[in-house]
Amino acid sequence: MITEEHKKQYQVEGYFVVDDMVPVAMLEELRAACWRVKKKVREGTVDVYTHWASTSEPWCIRGLIAPEFDEPIFAEYMLHQPLMDYTRSFLGDELRLGWIDLRTNPHHQDFPGGWHRDIGNRDPKLEEEMEELRRPINNLRWYLALVDDDCLQIIPGSQLRNRTERERECMVNSPHDDLPEQKVIALKAGQVAFWCGKTIHRGKMRMDIERLTLAASWRKWEKDEALEEKVDSRFEWRLDESIRDFLPPAMHVYYDRWRTLQKN
Ligand SMILES: [Fe+2]
Repeated sequence: MITEEHKKQYQVEGYFVVDDMVPVAMLEELRAACWRVKKKVREGTVDVYTHWASTSEPWCIRGLIAPEFDEPIFAEYMLHQPLMDYTRSFLGDELRLGWIDLRTNPHHQDFPGGWHRDIGNRDPKLEEEMEELRRPINNLRWYLALVDDDCLQIIPGSQLRNRTERERECMVNSPHDDLPEQKVIALKAGQVAFWCGKTIHRGKMRMDIERLTLAASWRKWEKDEALEEKVDSRFEWRLDESIRDFLPPAMHVYYDRWRTLQKN
């Protein structure tokens, strides 16, 4: 389980890997559900919100908790008590729905992602960059590998500092080049990586190596949060009334907190 050492590693390096967050029976159910989901998306039977590498080749499948997929295990997994307990210790007691999606390899060609940070501006001034990095984290994300996965690479510790000139050059002009200090976060099936999206990172998928990794997050909820200006297009499908009814009752409070922040 998660130790003080893990928490320290997250602060310093921006990630940690843990072995035993998810019981074997749940892992097996999730793996089978992900195979079904990927098959349906590739066949064109279901498409709630998919990021396509090319026609019929998904690399990121959203909408896993929607009734169209009819796979209640995904919501159950998000509510898995050890995950919730750790999330609360990280973000505080009050949470709202984050997201869950499946990262998977397209079959027709390699799919290398470029280096970036998950912050708004791709090429901020140094002061702006530090301001973004210092802002308190309001979500906790983790990856669960359902088969061995060595796609994620990060620059450990880069969430605490400005990018170097070399890193800037790479992110802006040649995002597929290698960087000094890059580290592969290799996960064995069943392992979970908690990691910070403010690190400089990339995902490198290959067509001939299966990737089946569930990315998920919870978000901190604050009573006085402002309405979102516009619903994030990646989550617009969650406005549909059928979604809430399909979710387990224990998920409703987190869903409702997200829903009331949307103007529509
Ligand atoms: Fe990213």
